[in-house]
Amino acid sequence: MEKPTPPKTIEDLLREERLFQPSEEFQNKANSANPAVYEEAAKDRFKFWEEWAGQLHWFRKWDKTLEWELPDARWFVGGKTNIAYNCLDRHLPKRAQKPAILWEGEPGDQKTLTYEQLFQEVGRFSNALKKLGVCTGDRVTLYMPMVPELAIAMLACARIGAAHSVVFGGFSPEALRGRIDDSQSKIVITADGGWRRGAAIPLKQNVDEAISGDSPVKSVVVVRRTGQAVLMKPGRDFWWHEQVAGQSPRCEAEPVDSEQMLYLLYTSGTTGKPKGIVHTTGGYMVGCYATARWIFDLKEDDIYWCTADIGWVTGHSYVVYGPLLNGATIVMYEGAPNHPENDRFWAIIEKYKVTVFYTAPTAIRTFMKWGESFPQKHNLSSLRLLGSVGEPINPEAWIWYRQIIGAGKCPIVDTWWQTETGHIMIAPLPGITALKPGSATKPFPGIDADVVDEQGNPANSGYLVIKSPWPGMLRGIYGDPERYRSVYWSKYPQWYFTGDGCKKDADGYFWVLGRVDDVLKVSGHRLSTMEIESALVDYTDVAEAAVIGRQDPIKENAVVAFVTVKNGVSATPELGKILKDHVVKKIGSLARPDTILFTSELPKTRSGKIMRRLLRDIAEGRVLGDATTLADPAVVESLKKNYSED
Ligand code: WTA
Repeated sequence: MEKPTPPKTIEDLLREERLFQPSEEFQNKANSANPAVYEEAAKDRFKFWEEWAGQLHWFRKWDKTLEWELPDARWFVGGKTNIAYNCLDRHLPKRAQKPAILWEGEPGDQKTLTYEQLFQEVGRFSNALKKLGVCTGDRVTLYMPMVPELAIAMLACARIGAAHSVVFGGFSPEALRGRIDDSQSKIVITADGGWRRGAAIPLKQNVDEAISGDSPVKSVVVVRRTGQAVLMKPGRDFWWHEQVAGQSPRCEAEPVDSEQMLYLLYTSGTTGKPKGIVHTTGGYMVGCYATARWIFDLKEDDIYWCTADIGWVTGHSYVVYGPLLNGATIVMYEGAPNHPENDRFWAIIEKYKVTVFYTAPTAIRTFMKWGESFPQKHNLSSLRLLGSVGEPINPEAWIWYRQIIGAGKCPIVDTWWQTETGHIMIAPLPGITALKPGSATKPFPGIDADVVDEQGNPANSGYLVIKSPWPGMLRGIYGDPERYRSVYWSKYPQWYFTGDGCKKDADGYFWVLGRVDDVLKVSGHRLSTMEIESALVDYTDVAEAAVIGRQDPIKENAVVAFVTVKNGVSATPELGKILKDHVVKKIGSLARPDTILFTSELPKTRSGKIMRRLLRDIAEGRVLGDATTLADPAVVESLKKNYSED
C-alpha cells in the first residue's frame, strides 16, 4: 500500500485555530450536556451501550453484551428484537398522529405519513412480501427512487426478518445485476421510474435488463411513480398498489435474533468487485439510535432532514433507522437540489421548517459556487443544528455553512464514519464539544478510535484505526470471510483498519484526511479506482488502464483515467467518449471519468506495479515524488508533457 498523500490544504487545516463553543442556550437544552460521559463510557463501554439498548424494546433480553472472536463480533447475544418494531410500534399510540415522513417529490407533489399510517403501510407491505413467498433470512433487492415506499419496503423486510439490499438508482443495469446475483435475491422492489432534474429515470427498464437471462429473481414489485410505460411480465411482475390492496395493515413483527442480518449494502473497495457489507440487527439498532439522539440532539418537535439518498449508508442509518428509532419527523425529498432552481433545498427548509439539516461537503461547496443569493431568498431561521458527512470538509466551506445557512448560530456536527462502521464514530456532541472548522472532533463516547503510525505506535499523524469492537460494526463481507479479514484486519492484526489517513492535534481532535487506499469519493459517492479500471479494460480496444482521483475543489475527487490502447488502435477523442460511455454502462453515470488521457505506456516499478502516486502527482501538477523505483523514467516525462485536461 502507498503512503497517504496529504491534501494540499493540510497545512492550512492544522493552522485552523478558530474555536466555536456551544452557546449557553444550546447547552442548556442539549440531550447530552455532561462532559463526563466520555470518561464514564471509556471506563465501561459495555455499560454505556447496555444503557442505550435498555431504552429499546427487546422481545427477549440479551444474555451477553459482546462476544468477540477477532474479527467476528456478536453484540447483545441471545437477545431477540425487531428494528421495525422499535421504529414504529414502540411509538404507538403516543406518536400515532405525529408525522413520521414529510415527503416531497421533485415535481412538487407531497405526502405526509404519520407514525400510525407508516405502521399500517409497513404492515400491508410485510403481508404482501409474505404472500410473495419472502421468508426470514431471504435477501430482497431494492432499486428505487426516493419515495416513501422505499422506507416502507426496508421496514417491511426488517419486520419479517428478511434482509434488504438497497442498490442506488444511479447504478447501471450491469452493476445492478452483479449485486442481485451476489446476494441471490429472489425478489426485486423497484418503480416504473423516478424524477431527477425533470427527467424520468428508467428504473423498471433497468431491472428488466439486469434480470434478463439467468437470474435468481422470481418476482418484481413495481411502484407506480412517474406513470411512464413499462413492460409487466405476467407471473413475474406485480404492481405495488395491487399487491397491498386488501392486505391487512397489521403484521406482527418477527422477533429476530440480535445477530440476524438486517441488510447488505454493496460498497466499493480496492478491487474491481464491490463488497456486500453485512449489517445485523441489535448492535446496529442501538448504535444508530444513540448516535442520532446525541449528535443530532433530536427533540420531540424537531423536523429533521438528511439529504442523502437511501441508496447509500447515510440514508440507511440517518434517513430511516436512526431518526425513526427516535420517533422523529423526517423530511424526504426525491430529486435534485437544482430543480427547478438552485434554491430547492432552501425552499424545502423554509416550507417544512426544518430544524436539523444534514448534508455533504460536496453539496455545500456547490451551494457556495451558486452563491448566497439562493439561500438568502428564503427564511432559514428554523434551523438550529447542521451536519456534514462523507468527506473532509474544508474550513472555508465549514464557515460558509455556519454563516450563510446557519446564521452564525447553529453548531455544525462534522460526522466521520463509513458504510462498514454502520453509524457515526467521530463527531462532536453539540452541547459539549467546542468546534474547530474542518475537524470531526472526537470519537463518540464508547468508541475506541486512535491514530497510529505504520508500526502501530500512537502517532499524531498516520492511520485511523478502531481498537475495540463497536455495536454497529460490519459483521463481514457477504460470502467472503477471507476478504473481510484481509481488508480490515490484516494491516494491524488486532485493530480495525479504516483506510483513512488522520491527524490528531494537541487537544486530541481528529482531522480525517481522506482515503489512503484506492477508494475515491466523487461528489460524495464512493467508488473504487479498480472498479473503473476493470470497466475500461473490458472495452476491446483498451490494453491497460490506471485510474486515480485528482483533488477537486468541489467534488473532492475527479476521476482521471490513463489509458493505453492495443496495437493498431488510434487513440482519438471519439474513443475517449466511447470509453466514458462504456464506464457508465458498466457502473453508472456516477463513475463517468472526467478526463481520459491516452498514453503509450504507464509508469511502472521494476516489478511491474503501476505507480499511481506518480500519476496523481502529474494530474495535480505537483513536483514529482520519488521516482527512483521507476522502470523507465522517460514514461513520466512524456506523460507530464502530454497531460492536459479535456
Ligand atoms: C470519508 C459515508 C472526512 C472517509 C458515511 C471514509 C469522511 C469514507 C467523513 C466512507 C468526514 C466520511 N470527514 N472524511 N466527516 N465522513 N468520510 O462508506 O474517507 O460512503 O472512509 O460512508 O468517507 O465512505 P462511505
